[in-house]
Amino acid sequence: MRLVVMGVSGCGKSSLGAALATALALPFTDADDLHPAANRAKMAAGQPLTDADRWPWLQAVGAVLASNAGVVACSALRRSYRDRLRETAGPVQFLHLIAPREVIAERLAARRGHFMPLALLDSQLATLEPLAPAEGWTLNVSGSQEANLGTALQLLRAARSNFQIDRG
Ligand SMILES: Nc1ncnc2c1ncn2[C@@H]1O[C@H](COP(=O)(O)OP(=O)(O)O)[C@@H](O)[C@H]1O
Ligand SMILES: [Mg+2]
Repeated sequence: MRLVVMGVSGCGKSSLGAALATALALPFTDADDLHPAANRAKMAAGQPLTDADRWPWLQAVGAVLASNAGVVACSALRRSYRDRLRETAGPVQFLHLIAPREVIAERLAARRGHFMPLALLDSQLATLEPLAPAEGWTLNVSGSQEANLGTALQLLRAARSNFQIDRG
């Protein structure tokens, strides 16, 4: 399985992505760890990244997905960013984590030691292009981390058994 857990900063990609990978015994990669230093500096200064900043980063994320199956946490906000990942890695399923803005803002405010300031949340929400149905699944993650993990695993298991039924 190649699964990208996506959504705006603070929605819970890193937490849920890592928990899913552990539960599924798959490797986990956080796409934030693949940003070049220049991108990190920009985000720390509260400047949104441009698409030119994003292409080499998405290429690196796609290369990780291409080289081994697993779970990757990556914002993948625009359809064109997801296209880039699919071009590099082949078929990839996306799990889009959504929650009301105030829930995400609260999580961002409580989070420590991270380079993404709250000021970028609105810019991310404006950039976001939700998934088309064929790209994967959308999951409301307003609940607890435990509840979200349980729902995500159910969803993936149901999808896998449908896939097996489809394939006979
Ligand atoms: N379901 C949840 N309920 C409460 N807090 C959460 C939940 N999921 C994640 N968090 C917390 O919210 C913050 C943002 O989560 P994180 O996984 O870092 O998001 P992202 O990787 O999408 O930016 C972290 O401090 C995390 O511990
Ligand atoms: Mg993260």
